[in-house]
Amino acid sequence: MFSAGPPTTLIFFSLLSFVAASKLDFFHAHRPNFNTTKISIPQTPNPNFNTSLGSYGPAAYAFAMAKYGVNVDTPLAVAVNARDTVVATPAYSYYDKEYLCAVKIGTPPQTLPLDFDTGSADLWVFSSETPSSSVSMGKAIYNPKNSSTAKLVTGATWALTYGDGSSSSGDVYTDNVTIGGLNVAAQAVESAQKVSSQFAGDTALSGLLGLAFGTANQVKPAVKTFFDNIRPALPLPIFTVNLKKGAPGSYNFGYIDTTQYTGALTYTPVTPRYSLWEFGISGFSIGTAIKNSTVIDAVADTGTSLLLLPLSIVKAYYAQIAGSSYSTNYGAYVYPCNITPPDFNFYIGTAKQVVPGRYMNYGYISNTQCYGGIQSQGTLMFSLFGDIALKAQFVVFDASVPRIGWANKPTS
Ligand SMILES: *[C@@H]1O[C@H](CO)[C@@H](O)[C@H](O)[C@H]1NC(C)=O
Ligand SMILES: *[C@@H]1O[C@H](CO)[C@@H](O)[C@H](O)[C@H]1NC(C)=O
Ligand SMILES: *[C@@H]1O[C@H](CO)[C@@H](O)[C@H](O)[C@H]1NC(C)=O
Ligand SMILES: *[C@@H]1O[C@H](CO)[C@@H](O)[C@H](O)[C@H]1NC(C)=O
Ligand SMILES: *[C@@H]1O[C@H](CO)[C@@H](O)[C@H](O)[C@H]1NC(C)=O
Repeated sequence: MFSAGPPTTLIFFSLLSFVAASKLDFFHAHRPNFNTTKISIPQTPNPNFNTSLGSYGPAAYAFAMAKYGVNVDTPLAVAVNARDTVVATPAYSYYDKEYLCAVKIGTPPQTLPLDFDTGSADLWVFSSETPSSSVSMGKAIYNPKNSSTAKLVTGATWALTYGDGSSSSGDVYTDNVTIGGLNVAAQAVESAQKVSSQFAGDTALSGLLGLAFGTANQVKPAVKTFFDNIRPALPLPIFTVNLKKGAPGSYNFGYIDTTQYTGALTYTPVTPRYSLWEFGISGFSIGTAIKNSTVIDAVADTGTSLLLLPLSIVKAYYAQIAGSSYSTNYGAYVYPCNITPPDFNFYIGTAKQVVPGRYMNYGYISNTQCYGGIQSQGTLMFSLFGDIALKAQFVVFDASVPRIGWANKPTS
């Protein structure tokens, strides 16, 4: 029933945002810290965490599976419909499903909130070339005609194909792109001329800035990613991710801020079989009840919300939660909202990295049941460590080896 696409059809969209804050709030609250060598990019999650408002989990799950080319079955299709219903409700807010950063493009600069996505390698934006029917009201878009430094790259095109068969595509400009104090004078900016329906209802997201390895870039002919372009200017060829639960965190480029974590950083090698940040964990434990040295192959993906694991581990996890069950309506595991689930711990070598049980709540799907943050990876060829796991950690993405460093940190 499930089929996994080949690596080239991995699709690259991030979880959509319905951030309630106005753009003004967004930019005022998240002024970058300018420094040409040490760049700290503040980001913001959805500002309001309110578990009584319903669940974004079903849509987050469906998007994650579609992103990696795994077909969804009927229960997930139902789940997507449930999400479409809530999109129309402006008061809705969800559960840290996306983190956005301010990026300046062009001359004079046009500021767009982009999702920094370690699960893709394209910098693409909603633009003046995107059909207006796909651009929600008030969304910040890129207009190359208003930028004196924009240049069309003749003949270059891009297309991202999604698991459900839809796609986003367009042409390519080079323009001056700045994040924090770092700028690339001729960065490839992929302008959307067609946008998958998954994006149409999104009010806040103006595009993605891919932080996966450059070989995953989908422009023909290929272009360099923003990170590959700034890499020579950085003191270290790294970026660090410090997402937070229900609060602004930051992406730092070129350095490690040792105040952002506690204890030691533990590194694990990255084997980018699919040009992604793919690593191995050496085991897991659930609360204090279960320890297990099963090795898992996983991808660290800031553009995914949930933690998707092999089904046997998902079952082992929910077996520790009284009253939890697999919901055939949602095609997913749910548990009683009045319970705090056990921590899920994963091991990097012998170091224990903790995802607190209280992070598992992805919202009410009935009066009593909540959508779980851990779900099955299905036929996906690796586990997906999305924001639920990443926000519990300080994470170093080191392109030099490559490797990923993990450290626990104070969590909220
Ligand atoms: C910028 O970073 C450098 C290198 O770490 C540091 O010495 C300097 O004080 C920073 N400047 C500002 C304005 O933060
Ligand atoms: C959460 O949403 C419910 C239902 O709309 C509302 O009654 C409650 O006041 C909200 N809580 C917070 C903290 O915003
Ligand atoms: C940008 O260009 C559009 C037309 O392409 C124009 O209507 C608009 O006023 C311009 N905005 C600015 C700030 O120049
Ligand atoms: C690029 O934009 C930044 C920020 O707006 C500006 O400081 C810089 O001078 C620009 N560079 C070029 C080559 O236009
Ligand atoms: C470890 O976990 C895997 C996956 O859940 C399971 O198949 C295996 O039986 C477990 N081993 C032990 C010793 O618990």
